[in-house]
Order: sequence, then structure tokens, then C-alpha cells
Amino acid sequence: MSVDLILGLQWGDEGKGKIVDFLTNSYEIIARFQGGPNAGHTLEFDGIKHVLHTIPSGIFHSKVENLIGNGVVIDPVIFKKEIENLNKFKIDLYSKLLISNKAHIILPTHRILDASSEISKGKSKIGSTLRGIGPTYMDKTGRNGIRVGDIFEKNWEIKYDLLCKKHINIINSYKKKIEFNLNEMNKEFFKAIETLKQFKVVNSQFYLSNAQKSGKKILAEGAQGTLLDIDFGTYPYVTSSTTTAAGACTGLGIAPKDINEVYGIFKAYTTRVGSGPFPTEINGEDGELMAKAGNEFGSTTGRARRCGWLDLVALKYAIQINGVTQLIMMKGDVLSGFKKIKICTSYDSEKKLADEFPFNLSENEIKPKYIEFPGWEKDISDINSENELPKEFISYMNFIEEELETPIKIISVGPDRKQTIFR
Ligand code: IMP
Repeated sequence: MSVDLILGLQWGDEGKGKIVDFLTNSYEIIARFQGGPNAGHTLEFDGIKHVLHTIPSGIFHSKVENLIGNGVVIDPVIFKKEIENLNKFKIDLYSKLLISNKAHIILPTHRILDASSEISKGKSKIGSTLRGIGPTYMDKTGRNGIRVGDIFEKNWEIKYDLLCKKHINIINSYKKKIEFNLNEMNKEFFKAIETLKQFKVVNSQFYLSNAQKSGKKILAEGAQGTLLDIDFGTYPYVTSSTTTAAGACTGLGIAPKDINEVYGIFKAYTTRVGSGPFPTEINGEDGELMAKAGNEFGSTTGRARRCGWLDLVALKYAIQINGVTQLIMMKGDVLSGFKKIKICTSYDSEKKLADEFPFNLSENEIKPKYIEFPGWEKDISDINSENELPKEFISYMNFIEEELETPIKIISVGPDRKQTIFR
């Protein structure tokens, strides 16, 4: 079993980028398995902050190969910008980055479709990142999509034009109109396609299978989080891919029997960006304090994230769906200074939902039941050993660990690589 997985257990933004980068020394391959440039994986070291959208978070390590798997959707324009940013750091991208020939391509019209659909929904909009993710996965499952392998075929532009025309017809059918200049967008797109073509495009399921045979260790990197999963998330306020462990199998062509550790990553509290239900959301001063202390602004869109207390009902559900074997707790430092800290242990509702994650979180009057913990004053962001952590922090963490019946192996107390405690 040579594949480990890392995935988010909440509504995304748990800090996967930092931890993948931190764990990368133990792996030969880092492979992204789903999502697209709706993700913003943030890494910080040597005083520089990097945000990756499509490229796996192992890219800064010289000995590691990074694969964009078949389950990912790629926007060539955003990809080109990411490459240009990384070029400043003198990384040998052409030998270290591989792309699956089966990954689907986001067209400029997918982005316009996304925006048209959101505007037409009015108040019930999803709060999409507007990166064209939903429409691209719709074309994938509708069997109309264009894959990376296609761009090397003769006359693939004919297929592109046909799909584009189909999109324009749909866009025109929306009452609310969006302004766009397709000629300009197409120019930018085809220029970016040339950049994409320069990379190693591989039959990634064979590449990974051969790597396993030769004893290489692989870390599969998820994007977004379990509660945004297309099947198991808070539908319809979700993304359009399988963000859970099963997504690593379909998004990389890996067999379930080859999966070893499943690292589940969560924040010591909860955040959500975009619309949708959020039972433990804090509306008020504590929420604002948390957002400020945690710098809770989206790394892709800059939108303010909604903040709330830790939700064990949701976390237990996420652990169950993913088969998590080890937990990683992020941003404990953000809770320093709170007099009292709450944890939700069950949901109360007229339908007596007890501690099971409900079918439809939005339609039920969910009242979270909380347990209160005393806070700690001390700034813990410089601490690098568990023994130095305040006793209140330890009891908060021990309670979570016991309730979740899964060990917390890593504690992160700040964005930098160095601010990480192994247990
Ligand atoms: P989409 O995937 O861009 O269409 O967005 C669908 C929903 O998922 C929206 O609520 C987004 O805010 C949310 N979302 C998508 N990607 C991320 C992410 O990387 N972090 C957090 N939320 C995300």
C-alpha cells in the first residue's frame, strides 16, 4: 500500500497546502485528484506566501514529481499564470510537473456559463468561485468535454468551436446578460493552450501504477472539503467533484486496496465561504474576531469567510465517509484570547436528528448543542513542542480526539512550515 491521502474534513480552506508541503519529504509523488482553480492552496516559507490553484503543493521540493490527475479540471489561462509566477523561483517545472491526458479543460465559455447561472439564481445562488467548475464537470459527465489529450489531436479546434457554440446558445437563453468579449477570451485561451502543451502529458493511471511497482510513495492531495462533496456535502451548496476519499480512486485511477493512511485535516474551529447552511456559524463579535485573527479571506476570490465553532457532528460524518486514520488540527493559535470556546456535540431539531448529519441541513431548524471550554490567553504561534502548550488547549484537543476516536498527529499553530508540531 503505497498511497496516502490528504483531504479536508470541513467546507474547505483547512490548510491542505501547508500540510502537503510539510509532508512532502516523505513522498516521491504528489498527485492532485479533483477540483480545479476554485482551490487556493496556500504555502508559506522563507517569508514568502505562495498560493497554488491547479498545481500540486509538492512543487517547491526539488526531488518530488507532481501530477495533475484526471479528476482535476484545468483552466489553461489560470494554469499559465501559475506557471509564470512559479518561474520566478527557478523551479524545473518541465521535469517535475506532469498532467493527465484525461483531465478536462475549462473553456472561457464555461466561466461565462457559471456566472450566468449564478446571476439567474438570485438569492439562492451557490456562491460559486465563478471559475467555470460546475459547467466543466457537467460537460464531463454529459460526455461533451474536451480533455488535455485532445489538444494534441488534429482539428480539435472544431470540437472546441462546436462546444463553444452550444455554450453561447445556453448563455443567450438566460434573461440576465453578462458582458464578455469572446474574441479576446479565445486569444488568451489559445495562447495558454500552447503553454499547456509544453508539459509532460501522461497516461497518469499507468504512470502511477508503474511508480507504485517501483516502490515510490504517493500522496494524493484533495481540494475543497468533505462538506462540499457533490454526493455527501450540503447539496446543492457544494462543488461539482468528489472531494472525499473515493475521489482519489476515480481522480487518479488508484485501486482502493492501495490506500494506506487517510489524513483528515480540520481547523480548530469552522469556516465556510459562499452560501449554504452552517449550523455553528457565529453571527457577531466572536465571529468577527475569529475571522480577523485567522485572516479568513478566500485565497482564490478574496471573499470573507464565515466563521463558527467546531462541529463534531459534521466531523464525525466526514471521518466516517473518508475512513480517516490520522487527524491534523490547524489554526489552534487563532483561538488564543477567547474567554470561552465552544464545541458542538449534537444537533437538536424538531425532527430529533440527534448526532447524525441530516439529509438537508437547510430545511431543518438545527440547534447545535454546545459544550463550553475555558480559553487560553497565551499566544501559541511560537510553540514547537506539545509540552509547552497551555493546559486549556490540551484539554480542548484531548476532548476532540476522544470524541472523534481518531488520533491527532499534527498540530499547526501558524501558516509557516516551522509552526508545526508532530505528536
Ligand atoms: P465552485 O466549486 O467554484 O462552483 O463553488 C461551489 C461552492 O464551493 C461555493 O460555496 C464555493 O465558495 C465553495 N468552494 C469551492 N472551492 C472552494 C475552496 O477551495 N475552498 C472553500 N470553498 C470552496
